[in-house]
Amino acid sequence: MHKPIPKRISEGSIKELLDFSFSDRRIICLDMIDSTNNYAKKLIEQGCDGWTVIVAEGQSNGRGRLGRTWVSPKGKGLYMSVILGPVSGQNSCNLITLGASIAVANSIKKLIGESPKIKWPNDILLDGSKVCGILTEIVLNSKGQNYIVLGIGVNVHAKEQDFPDDIKNKATSIHKFMEEKGRRISDSSKLLLAVGILSEIDNLITEDCRLSDVNVAMDTYRKLSASLGGRVMFINKERECKGIALDIESDGALVIQCDDGEIRKLFSGEVSIRGIMGYVD
Ligand code: BTN
Repeated sequence: MHKPIPKRISEGSIKELLDFSFSDRRIICLDMIDSTNNYAKKLIEQGCDGWTVIVAEGQSNGRGRLGRTWVSPKGKGLYMSVILGPVSGQNSCNLITLGASIAVANSIKKLIGESPKIKWPNDILLDGSKVCGILTEIVLNSKGQNYIVLGIGVNVHAKEQDFPDDIKNKATSIHKFMEEKGRRISDSSKLLLAVGILSEIDNLITEDCRLSDVNVAMDTYRKLSASLGGRVMFINKERECKGIALDIESDGALVIQCDDGEIRKLFSGEVSIRGIMGYVD
């Protein structure tokens, strides 16, 4: 007879379901914290090992990209930071972030049987609304070694009323997406997602912080992309730039054929896609 899957995330429950390298690493499970990325930074500065994982039930100061806030109510989402490193040589942080997006998208698909899309570079979408964001940061330790912190926030059990008004029409949760389809998610979803993401990261990213197979990963990323072929808008030197997203190159750059005739390559930043997350033009 199968043992029931635990509902709560704990070091024991994660390790019981993991059968690879993370299972002998530190997995720190916290109740409330300001931000798991802040906690990870402090650990790195104190000299912790790579492949350490921090998960919290809730965050009082969850941080998003571009200085935004990541609303992190207790029990409603997966708030996890994965420390990778030390980074050797010229490894690309951009590509690792794209790898993390694939890891999350694959794990969500495994959980609910439907594939999310990725809005370049690392927003994960269900039915065109954001279900997960990834904040990647590089932190230097006292020995001069660089570590990568992959901060992953997934809205899992959040209901409509858990989202602030200004993001209600752009954000979703796995619960909300499934409820709209008349389906339910299990109480173990956060745990299964955490285990799934760690397992995917272990497959996709090598110990020395490279994508295990760049070509395969980038092909997968392109297939999952919500951006490719779409009409997009981004800010270039304080001016709005519009065009069509042509390609994602093997260095992770988004190539855009702009309306002014120029072809531009973006390595980071924010790109709106027509018809997605409230952008209409
Ligand atoms: C985004 O803006 O899309 C990125 C959001 C990242 C949120 C996660 S939640 C876990 C980790 N800790 C943080 O403070 N932020 C990241």
